[in-house]
Amino acid sequence: MLKVLMVYFSGTGVTRYFASLIQEEMEKRGYICDNLNLEEVVDLPTLWQKNPVALNYTIRAERKRPLGKYPWPYRKIDTALENVEENPILSGLKDEWDNYDLIGFGSPVYSFRPAPVMIRFLLDLPVFQKKIRVFSFATHDGAQGDYEAFMRNLLRLKGFKYVGHLDQSFVFSATAIMRSRFDHLKTGRLLVRKTFQARKNIFIFLEYINSLYFGIPYYYKGPNLLDKLVGIPYRFFYSYGVDFILNHLLFGFGIHKDECIQCLTCVQQCPQGLIEIGDDDYPIRHYHCMYCLRCLNWCPTGALYFSSLTKGKARFPGPEVLLDAALQDSIDDRLKKD
Ligand SMILES: Cc1cc2nc3c(=O)[nH]c(=O)nc-3n(C[C@H](O)[C@H](O)[C@H](O)COP(=O)(O)O)c2cc1C
Ligand code: SF4
Ligand code: SF4
Repeated sequence: MLKVLMVYFSGTGVTRYFASLIQEEMEKRGYICDNLNLEEVVDLPTLWQKNPVALNYTIRAERKRPLGKYPWPYRKIDTALENVEENPILSGLKDEWDNYDLIGFGSPVYSFRPAPVMIRFLLDLPVFQKKIRVFSFATHDGAQGDYEAFMRNLLRLKGFKYVGHLDQSFVFSATAIMRSRFDHLKTGRLLVRKTFQARKNIFIFLEYINSLYFGIPYYYKGPNLLDKLVGIPYRFFYSYGVDFILNHLLFGFGIHKDECIQCLTCVQQCPQGLIEIGDDDYPIRHYHCMYCLRCLNWCPTGALYFSSLTKGKARFPGPEVLLDAALQDSIDDRLKKD
């Protein structure tokens, strides 16, 4: 029976949800599937703070308003690819992963690329001698751009045999903080619809995986023209729109102290350990980050902001809360009918 490992990073829970759907479908087929959430098994702050990689617009935005205390430079993702070095912290994975027939690596899409922390992790991996089969997976909002090419190249660089890619558009986790209101029920219903779509896509992908191991013939079409075309306006938005928003509207991480209840959620939830408690007992972000926006979205009182523009605005609460809202609504509907 196939033994599969799913390695993922998830900023706000959507990729974790997708990984669990893939795991479920694999187990239905009798595969043995382990899940590995990077945050739970690797010390991401240590990896990241040693050598952070970032997107161009992040670097430009942070250069404009540098944070005080730890001003080390980011390395551009593209240049980081030219200096690949194995990190001794991860050497042990070579023996551990040798037992798997297939490994999947997944993250959200941030500006057409894998999340920077996933790129850092892959760059730091040792080179695997045994050609283990691997695939990439992703969640996004409709445009994954260079994600697949990035993952394919990185994984081949580390000696793996790359066999394919699986992705799903769910909902956009980043725009919540720019909206005045976030409709839990509407987004929850959308997530339910997308979950059906995801299961169908996973089914097709697993038919393809079956064909690799058990010789059952399978025809893989690859991405269609419409998917490619949808990417063009998104690419424009991310090159200019996000750059503009970060530079001029949102950028400038801050806190409304009168609204902070000092619960420390933001400190605990930052995947890269970038938020500290300052001398006045309120959180402060000294390090440069990758804009996963989890600290903002998870703050229970909305005390954190990237600019005064986002004060009091909507937050993305994560897939579980949204699915609960949709479920509760359908239960209420059923009760009314009865
Ligand atoms: C900083 C940032 C950049 C993003 N860039 C893209 C993008 O280029 N294309 C896209 O389709 N979605 C983009 N998204 C949306 C996320 O990929 C999507 O909501 C994803 O499912 C979030 O997964 P997570 O909850 O596991 O972090 C972006 C989100 C953030 C926070
Ligand atoms: S400071 Fe906030 S946005 Fe930046 S990496 Fe940490 S949780 Fe994500
Ligand atoms: S999560 Fe929000 S309320 Fe809690 S400590 Fe951080 S800023 Fe304050």
